[in-house]
Amino acid sequence: MGAGKSRTARLARKGGAEVVDVDAELEAELGSPIADFFERAGEEEFRRREAERTVAVLAAAKPGTIVALGGGAVLQPAVAEALRPHTAVWLDVDADRAWERVAGKDGRPLARDRETFARLHAERRPVYRELADARMLWAESASGAYPVFVGSRILGRPLWPLPGRRFVVTDSNAGLRYAEALAPSAAVIEVDPGEQAKSLAVAERVMRQLTRAGMSRHDHLAALGGGVVGDLGGFCAAVFQRGVAVAQYPTTLVAQVDSAYGGKTGVDLPEAKNYVGAYHLPAAVVADTATLTTLPPEELAAGFAEVIKTALLAGDPLWSEVRDLAGIDPAGLDEVIFACVRHKADVVARDERDSGHRQSLNLGHTVGHAIEVAGAYRRYRHGEAVGLGLLAALRLSGADELRDEVEELLARRGLPTALDPGIDVESVLAAVEHDKKRGPDGVGFVVLEEPGAARTGVVIEPDRVRLAVQELAGR
Ligand SMILES: NC(=O)c1ccc[n+]([C@@H]2O[C@H](COP(=O)([O-])OP(=O)(O)OC[C@H]3O[C@@H](n4cnc5c(N)ncnc54)[C@H](O)[C@@H]3O)[C@@H](O)[C@H]2O)c1
Repeated sequence: MGAGKSRTARLARKGGAEVVDVDAELEAELGSPIADFFERAGEEEFRRREAERTVAVLAAAKPGTIVALGGGAVLQPAVAEALRPHTAVWLDVDADRAWERVAGKDGRPLARDRETFARLHAERRPVYRELADARMLWAESASGAYPVFVGSRILGRPLWPLPGRRFVVTDSNAGLRYAEALAPSAAVIEVDPGEQAKSLAVAERVMRQLTRAGMSRHDHLAALGGGVVGDLGGFCAAVFQRGVAVAQYPTTLVAQVDSAYGGKTGVDLPEAKNYVGAYHLPAAVVADTATLTTLPPEELAAGFAEVIKTALLAGDPLWSEVRDLAGIDPAGLDEVIFACVRHKADVVARDERDSGHRQSLNLGHTVGHAIEVAGAYRRYRHGEAVGLGLLAALRLSGADELRDEVEELLARRGLPTALDPGIDVESVLAAVEHDKKRGPDGVGFVVLEEPGAARTGVVIEPDRVRLAVQELAGR
């Protein structure tokens, strides 16, 4: 209740999918609103009729049909059984949010008091967890909303209607392994792996290939890969023919917890990172966590730095959970990934265009991006540079104990905690000065005195920044 099933059904229908809303079907069959029938005939009789109808709908559903189920229906063993051949998606919403949506609304017989509602919500969660192939949330912001799916082995499933033909942009590592799962596609365009692909020259090449392959404004681009492909593909989608739809299929931990969401797309200039870009929200994001099993361990570790960043920003319970994770086992990361997505989606919902709150997501990135530039985008993976940047940011925040704790967490995953001697401190400091978050008074840093309490736009004296970077360099 209050998870947004009816809204999801409505938007899927608008997108062109065939949709069956079991509650609506049931009301037609019962000849009265569900609440009235529930009152009149009792819960047991209602559940019997609901299960019967749901099983019939599921048996008749064709591939690609989206079926909105009643929240209690799946508790019936017959319905759980009938769900097996289908993809079950759990619209995972917390009890408080769901209650806000349904409280005081007529026609919700099981949402009359908050306590009963919270109890039902808690009782049903493990059942949903058990049955679901994917979790889903709506990422909302000023310019629109899009569905996010997180789950294992969901890449090729018809989860959401997308416009026209699919044009895949990927890199050779992700493409080799996963482009086939997205078939049929009108074209698969591959770029070389690595940050170097985030350039205007590569964007031009991709768009010329899209043109030659006949992409139109009514088609969509599928960005399949890590953050590099997501940023590059998203940027091409933002400007190609003044904008085509993009669906993000992130296949790295960095991309699944962070870069695939929020609509920031772009490429680098040799002088500065992410300097050319556009806001372009995805039409949908499908994060298949099974793709992480082929990710090299160093890439998984680099992604963990973004997980630490998100957990620091979100505070507890995520921070404690991440701090205490024994290892980075991709098979067990779904919950943490989903929690990171939820945090990012909440932040972007408040400030899509980065004028305030969203800047918090840049924790560790001011120095992190500068380290990437100073290493010519080759020396460090993005996540590794962010890890180093976090250490500098926590020192600048005066959070010395937390800095020690994060240093230990990074070291335990084999992530760098000191700058390579080949990286020149002056180059890092010069690149910090080019940071996009520069205001009239200087570069605005994100500081964090304790987990969950970030402040943005904090201008810090250059000498202190110098000391924090020198400390990383062991000087
Ligand atoms: N737009 C945003 O909001 C945002 C946020 C954070 C980071 N970013 C950007 O993301 C980029 C970093 O992303 P990244 O860390 O994902 O790097 P990446 O895209 O370079 O991927 C890392 C490596 O993993 C390979 N790979 C990808 N998926 C694989 C898989 N499943 N199996 C095997 N190999 C695979 C890639 O080919 C690459 O070699 C940076 O450019 C950063 O600026 C953007």
